[in-house]
Amino acid sequence: MLHGSFNKMLRETIHESQKCQRNWDLSKDIPQEDKDLIIEAATNSPSKQNLNYFNVHVIEDRDVIEEIHSYTEGFGPIYKDYDANKTPHERSKDGQAHYEKGKEGGKYYTNPQVLGQLLLAFTPNEPSQVREENDTYDQDRDMAIGISAGYINVIATQMGYATGCCKCISDVPAIGKILGEEPILLMGVGVADAKRDRREHHNDPSFTFPSLKQNKKISVNYV
Ligand SMILES: Cc1cc2nc3c(=O)[nH]c(=O)nc-3n(C[C@H](O)[C@H](O)[C@H](O)COP(=O)(O)O)c2cc1C
Repeated sequence: MLHGSFNKMLRETIHESQKCQRNWDLSKDIPQEDKDLIIEAATNSPSKQNLNYFNVHVIEDRDVIEEIHSYTEGFGPIYKDYDANKTPHERSKDGQAHYEKGKEGGKYYTNPQVLGQLLLAFTPNEPSQVREENDTYDQDRDMAIGISAGYINVIATQMGYATGCCKCISDVPAIGKILGEEPILLMGVGVADAKRDRREHHNDPSFTFPSLKQNKKISVNYV
């Protein structure tokens, strides 16, 4: 059994790494050895049969990062005046899902979590090994990318950096042209701006992203 203070630190890692950072202190640099460790985490996470289902692009050129960011207009206008306690939720017809009812139309916000010092883009790779006839890899790929992103979340957080994933990509082909491959997931890693609320849009302080924390209700069944 470890000293309890270590568990306390791990608990903090869990809850810190879960958060999406929306603004950055770009006056600071990430040392090369830290970048290397983050990439080591990204590329050594487990995957089914250790096959390589994805490639990772590491982007540090500011102009390229900003151009990619411009293709992430995906955060809906309903969130402009969103208040988790007031915005009504409605059930879908089948009763399975509920969605937030808000204003339609208006501005879609970009996802500034991709504007950190490091931008990682996950793109598909076809494993060279065929496991069996007509095998498909899509599910294994999504899992592998998710686990890799999770490793980055945890490791980068323990190193003092902040992270943010982005799946809302408004122009996948445009980013595909830049990278040579179309992205599945983007992930910003960098130094958080300590002077701002972490949810404030990096380029537009008038918009603060909602946390949607109320959605996180995973049922755990002990058998
Ligand atoms: C795989 C993945 C994809 C995500 N894609 C987006 C996204 O496209 N846009 C966005 O605003 N947040 C995205 N997020 C961020 C999550 O919404 C966020 O980490 C989570 O809700 C934590 O809550 P927070 O909003 O308080 O940070 C993504 C997170 C993960 C893990």
